[in-house]
Amino acid sequence: MRKAKLSVSDINKSFYMPGENISLQVLEKIDFEIQEGEFVSILGPSGCGKSTFLNILAGFENVDCGNAVCCGESITGPSPERAVVFQSPVLFPWLDVKENIMYGLKQVGKRKKDAEQLASEYLKAVGLEGFGNYYPSQLSGGMQQRVSLIRSLVLGPKVLLMDEPFAALDAQTRYSMQQLLLQLWENNRQTIVFITHDVEEALLLSDRICIMSRRPGRIIEEISVPFERPRTISLAGSEDFSILKSRILGKLLT
Ligand SMILES: Nc1ncnc2c1ncn2[C@@H]1O[C@H](COP(=O)(O)OP(=O)(O)O)[C@@H](O)[C@H]1O
Ligand SMILES: [Mg+2]
Repeated sequence: MRKAKLSVSDINKSFYMPGENISLQVLEKIDFEIQEGEFVSILGPSGCGKSTFLNILAGFENVDCGNAVCCGESITGPSPERAVVFQSPVLFPWLDVKENIMYGLKQVGKRKKDAEQLASEYLKAVGLEGFGNYYPSQLSGGMQQRVSLIRSLVLGPKVLLMDEPFAALDAQTRYSMQQLLLQLWENNRQTIVFITHDVEEALLLSDRICIMSRRPGRIIEEISVPFERPRTISLAGSEDFSILKSRILGKLLT
């Protein structure tokens, strides 16, 4: 049996609300495992604790009780092994695209020439060849998100934690970003935890979907996604896709 890349057991998480002097329970008894190279989506209604869960995996938040483990070690804080991609691109506005990508590489001691080479390769891979000298403000939202994604990928993380990374993009750009992510994942096979509230997105991208309940968030169902890869948007027109989508929507609305 393969060893889990990331696993959490029996996690509870609450936030103290000083104004009301109460503790708000956000996550309840979360058990979750993801194998190396697996792509799992977490689907749940707004406010159910998805980001809180991802922040725990990232090491940004502590748990009240339970364990979170990555590569056999307890998660006690952020690590370059676990890269996080947010909904808004995270870029330094005063650095150009290439410098933004090279920033993290320099921090980990990469030589300038090697960092430049890597930045160029990734820019080419995401269709942004020739934009290295542009500043973030000169790019569209989708282009900025591509650069943000490269900034994470270029450091070679083993785990990608993605919090609704394409939610702010228009439908067409979102679709091209989904295809890009699948292509990059097929080449590198990182372990991906992908948060979304979009059922179609989860079905198009993932190997498995975990559905969360309303707050306090619990994982109420896990579904293996049966569709063959590579997947394209035409899959969304198939009967099997519609049936699974309705079943998941039904579960989300209960
Ligand atoms: N740092 C925090 N302090 C207090 N409450 C928080 C904090 N982070 C999240 N919450 C609350 O926890 C609940 C779940 O939030 P979140 O994890 O962001 O949900 P989701 O990502 O599913 O929309 C919300 O009610 C939110 O207000
Ligand atoms: Mg969120």
